[in-house]
Amino acid sequence: MDTFKTILTGLGNIGRTLLELLVADSERFALRYGFQLRIIGVADSTGVAFDPDGLDLPAIIDCKRRRLGVRVLPTFRSDLDPINLARTVDYDLLLEATPTNLRDGQPALDIVRAALQRGKAAVLASKGPLVLAFAELAALSDWADDLSPYSVRPPLRFSGAVGGALPTINVGLRDLAGARIERAELVVNSTTQVILEQMAIGADFSTALAEAQRQGIVEPDPSLDVDGWDAAGKLVIFANAVLRQPTTLTDVNIRGIREVTAEELAAAWSAGGRISLVACADRQTDGRYVLSVTPTRLAADHPLARLSRGEMGLVIYSDTAGRSTLSSLEDGPLGTCQAMLRDVIDIRHRLRCAKG
Ligand SMILES: NC(=O)c1ccc[n+]([C@@H]2O[C@H](COP(=O)([O-])OP(=O)(O)OC[C@H]3O[C@@H](n4cnc5c(N)ncnc54)[C@H](OP(=O)(O)O)[C@@H]3O)[C@@H](O)[C@H]2O)c1
Repeated sequence: MDTFKTILTGLGNIGRTLLELLVADSERFALRYGFQLRIIGVADSTGVAFDPDGLDLPAIIDCKRRRLGVRVLPTFRSDLDPINLARTVDYDLLLEATPTNLRDGQPALDIVRAALQRGKAAVLASKGPLVLAFAELAALSDWADDLSPYSVRPPLRFSGAVGGALPTINVGLRDLAGARIERAELVVNSTTQVILEQMAIGADFSTALAEAQRQGIVEPDPSLDVDGWDAAGKLVIFANAVLRQPTTLTDVNIRGIREVTAEELAAAWSAGGRISLVACADRQTDGRYVLSVTPTRLAADHPLARLSRGEMGLVIYSDTAGRSTLSSLEDGPLGTCQAMLRDVIDIRHRLRCAKG
């Protein structure tokens, strides 16, 4: 049985749920895939807990459920912070789930940089490093070798960062390989889906936002969702990773949902359609993609018009595969944790190939 010595940065909705999943499912996981994760280091905003022999996961889960920091654990290490944890200890795999920061990407950017520079595999749920430094991280990882299984560079995966369990990146990269993407439409922000749906049935904006917050899906700073930044960040990652167009946030024309009126919503709904915040990549005749995030009226027969209750979805039009549609209704953070685990399984296959 192979064991991956693993560090996990961020113990919020995603990090804690991931630990719960590992505790509940580790036997099935080991039997099915022939390897296990040994979590040797974890970090939250209070610092780092570390034990090279493996941490007591139920104790960490209990600590986070009680809204405490790892600082209270006996394995707390005052000499470590999340970045030098990634820089100094002996491990195989980084799982990164600190908050998304679209200003400077920190602390996630320095954490993942340190891991890749040391040749460690990395799986990200956080978007900041990918939005702000995709080219740099790609050059440090197996993306520089077009994800070849024989790459000597460390694997970098982030399929959960663009829509959680919705396999946006994987479908674009793997299943549509060989096809030319003409247009991609992504509904990947569930907060705006819920707000627009609530407003369509009569709620005002602040009541609708409060409902989305009650569901626990809103970013700590709601303007990231409402003003389109979250969707734009995901589109930037999709454009870099799938469309292979070097892209930053400044390349995206962004308009959030604040100006959508009750009348517009009522008209769209009463015609059997809806209005959604759509992130769109549209291929031009010169081969470049024009990128936008904008509230879009979807007619009743549009494949994304039937999404409901915060569901996310994706439509890709390509030259040979026609129209491909995917949707995903997730149960809280579990979907993103599943995505992180599928990335870990992918990395395990990659590393076995590289070993020969
Ligand atoms: N939630 C989702 O459904 C979802 C889906 C896809 C991607 N993501 C991405 O996944 C990441 C985690 O999301 P989340 O919902 O789990 O966020 P969250 O609940 O806010 O948790 C963030 C975690 O990071 C820790 N943290 C904050 N600042 C830190 C620092 N400087 N150093 C180390 N740890 C720090 C927090 O510590 P404390 O516990 O001490 O506060 C907390 O444990 C985000 O980047 C998000 O965009 C989330």
